[in-house]
Amino acid sequence: MSKSPIGIFDSGIGGTSIFQEIHALLPKENCIYLADSKNAPYGNKSNAEIIQLSIKNTEFLINKGCKIIVVACNTATTNAIDYLRENYTIPFIGIEPAIKPAALNTQTKAIGILATKGTLSSQLFHKTTDLYASGIKVIEQVGEGIVPLIEAGKVNSKEMQSLLEVYLKPMLEQNIDYLVLGCTHYPYLIPMLSKMLPVEVKIIDSGLAVAKQTKSILTSHSLLNEDICEPTIKLYSNGEVVILDSILDYKFDTSYLVF
Ligand code: SIN
Repeated sequence: MSKSPIGIFDSGIGGTSIFQEIHALLPKENCIYLADSKNAPYGNKSNAEIIQLSIKNTEFLINKGCKIIVVACNTATTNAIDYLRENYTIPFIGIEPAIKPAALNTQTKAIGILATKGTLSSQLFHKTTDLYASGIKVIEQVGEGIVPLIEAGKVNSKEMQSLLEVYLKPMLEQNIDYLVLGCTHYPYLIPMLSKMLPVEVKIIDSGLAVAKQTKSILTSHSLLNEDICEPTIKLYSNGEVVILDSILDYKFDTSYLVF
């Protein structure tokens, strides 16, 4: 057993959608969340830049004593997780778009994926799509501009609705019945997306699968926290932490970070 915290990082506040799933499944675990909002979005950065930022985030969390790191960012996972696993000894959990369940369950044989340019152009994404979605039409859409709006607290804005209308149109024209959210910021759009999509289109993200994977790795490494005390949950951000209050149910103990 280990009381050391689970470390979670993202290019900003989006990965808190993953934190919420982890906290719901593993309520005794101490957690440290690192929001690198100053450098958001990662989606348009080069592979080398994303690896450098991921190293900085990882070292911050390791220095805080984390026992496992969840890379709660699709773009950082697809670009940097192999490097991190090769160069650090602690376990890493990554986020991959939920292509597999969508491809297995689609009736129309057409699924949509909304993700960043960095995720959609990565080798890992192509490998996953080739492996699980051969014979399925996968309509890829870069969610240009979505992350900056969420980071600016404009989740429910007119601008967001206009962007989503443009991004969903080609998918609906091709009769998708699953929309895969391939960025951890996007689950905060589910209320708006649900109003815009026909009822038969299901929205899926990776949050619960990642929480289950975190539990399974902690269990197999004998790292679960069996302590009965209230856990400590800490958020470090180099951006606007007040925005979190508008989108989260959970109140973090927050610290501004010069990072
Ligand atoms: C971004 O920073 O561009 C989005 C992060 C993600 O892919 O989850």
